[in-house]
Parts: sequence; C-alpha cells; structure tokens
Amino acid sequence: MSHAHAALISALPKAELHLHIEGSLEPEMMFRLAERNGISLPYPTVEAVRAAYDFDNLQSFLDLYYAGAGVLQTEQDFYDLTWAYLLRCRDDKVVHTEIFFDPQTHTERGIAFGTVYQGIRRALDDARAQLNISSRLIMSFLRHLSEEDGFVVLEQARPYLAGIDGFGLDSSEVGHPPAKFARLFAACHQLGLPCVAHAGEEGPPAYVWEALDLLKVCRIDHGVRALEDASLVARLVASRMPLTVCPYSNIKLRVFDQLKDHNLRQLLQAGLCATVNSDDPAYFGGYVQENYLGCARELGLSKAEILQLCQNGFEASWLSPEEKAHWQAECSRIAAGFAD
Ligand code: ADE
Ligand code: ZN
Repeated sequence: MSHAHAALISALPKAELHLHIEGSLEPEMMFRLAERNGISLPYPTVEAVRAAYDFDNLQSFLDLYYAGAGVLQTEQDFYDLTWAYLLRCRDDKVVHTEIFFDPQTHTERGIAFGTVYQGIRRALDDARAQLNISSRLIMSFLRHLSEEDGFVVLEQARPYLAGIDGFGLDSSEVGHPPAKFARLFAACHQLGLPCVAHAGEEGPPAYVWEALDLLKVCRIDHGVRALEDASLVARLVASRMPLTVCPYSNIKLRVFDQLKDHNLRQLLQAGLCATVNSDDPAYFGGYVQENYLGCARELGLSKAEILQLCQNGFEASWLSPEEKAHWQAECSRIAAGFAD
C-alpha cells in the first residue's frame, strides 16, 4: 500500500457501526479489573491471555468472550471499559460510534441491568462533551438464549429506554435463526426503535432473508455470505441495505482464510452499502482504523473505494440527514487533498 493511502485513512473521519463494548476488553484491563474485584483469572499473564486468542470459529471465540466479561462487576468497570474504547475512537478519528452491549451476558451472572447501562451511558455522555464523539447505544439480545429470556431483559431495560437507541441480535448464529425472535423484534418495533441483526456471518443467506422479512432490520451485521445469493444481493442493493462488515473478525473467526481472500471489494463492486468495523477489537487484533489499513494493503483498495467505505459508514448510521451530509462533505473535502 502506498504511504498516501495510510495517510488518507488516518485523516478521514469515520463512523463505526459494529462494535461490541465487551469485545473491547483488552487483556491489560481484564487483569486490572480482576484484581480490583478480587477475581482470579485462569491465565498467569497478559501474554498468556493473548496466546489463547486463537479461534477456530465463532463459538470458540464466544466461549472466551463471555468468560472474559466476568471481570466486569461495577458501574465504574463498565465506565472504564467504554471510556478506554472511546479514547481509541479519538485516536482513529472515529467521530461517531454505534456500539452494542449484551446485557444478558451480565444479568445472567447477577449484575443489575442498571449497573451495566449507567456505566456505559456515562462514558458515552462524557465522550460527547469531552471528545466531541457522538454515539448511539444498541441493546443486543443473545440468540443462543430463548425468546422468552429476551422478553425478560427487555422488561429490565424499560426504565432506561430513553438512553437506548435500538436493538440487535448476536451470539451463536447457526441453529439460532432470526425466525426464533420474530415476536421479540415485533415488540421492539412497537417501542419505535430501529433494529439490526447479525446475519450471514457463519449462517447462510436464508438467515439474511429472515432478518429482513421477519425482524425488519435496517442494517445487516456482517452479511458477507449474502454474496452467495444473487437475488438477495439484488434486494440489498436496491434498498441500500447497509452491511456492517468486520474484516479482521472474519479472519480471526475463519470465515475467510486470509485478509487477501476477504470479499469486501466484491461487496462494493456489487453496489452494496458495505462499511468497515472492528467487532471485538481486543480479541481480533485491530481497531477500526487498522481494519481499513489492512484491507487497503491486502485488497489493494483504491482511494475512491476507501472514500466510499467512509461515506457508507455515515450513510448507514443513525445520524440525522444534516449530520450525515456534514460528515460526508468532510470526507470528500479531506480526500481531495490526497493523490489517487
Ligand atoms: N458477539 C460478539 N461478537 C460477535 C460476533 N462477531 N458474532 C456474533 N456474536 C458476537
Ligand atoms: Zn458482532
């Protein structure tokens, strides 16, 4: 990759739309919080934790991700976790972020919903005031649990809905199709909030169809397997349905062998609104800027493609039309100062 593209990528303002806050828990913080909370970890060192991050598939990652989240106990822990991520946003020129939290990961082990929510919320509010980073907060349901469990956590969320901007669906995909949550998502829509779902990460294109038709989502998280179904691609293109693609995640979880095999470029060439995101950066080895840099290098992205990806991030966000237009104009203005 030319030096010019690295400079372009670091100069461009970015939106991140697919980030699990629990997936930003770096091993150093895991140790710090474990010590603070009197929890013993099954690893002797930070290096040993990192060495364990060698995954075969989504489930082998999720097992460690849920175990790691066990160090998060107090509101301050959730604040510190979120604030550390927001400082990384500042460094990567992420000016807007729409983050997931998985309340059931915490309520299932006895942490109150409000403890989780308030720590995250306070950090997002501080980032708006102190770092000039705007955000949205997406409450995500765990699909390996039942729809009934989803209704329980939705009840627990009720006092906090003013600070929750939408709903998502994540965790073990295969065997837990979107159809399992049709009634729950209908209840979410009744609250007037937008919905998204992970689909087409490991699961087949049929799961993407279900997310669209049964859950009525406004974005597909991942969606890289949509390319296997031409009529699905046509529908996604015609509706400008965004895909929140996470390249490093897809390599670490073995959806693709290597970054040079990733289909991000084909997604763009098909006319899809593909975006670049980090998913669980503490586990997958790179925050959002690193995902852009890696793709530019390994896929040979052009200046126009890099600009398109950044513009798509704002288009696909839940910012107002005026804010989207502002950031897209900023992207164009900044890109104009760089060579092709
Ligand atoms: N939870 C955190 N990261 C996830 C991913 N990539 N897919 C499904 N569930 C997740
Ligand atoms: Zn994800």
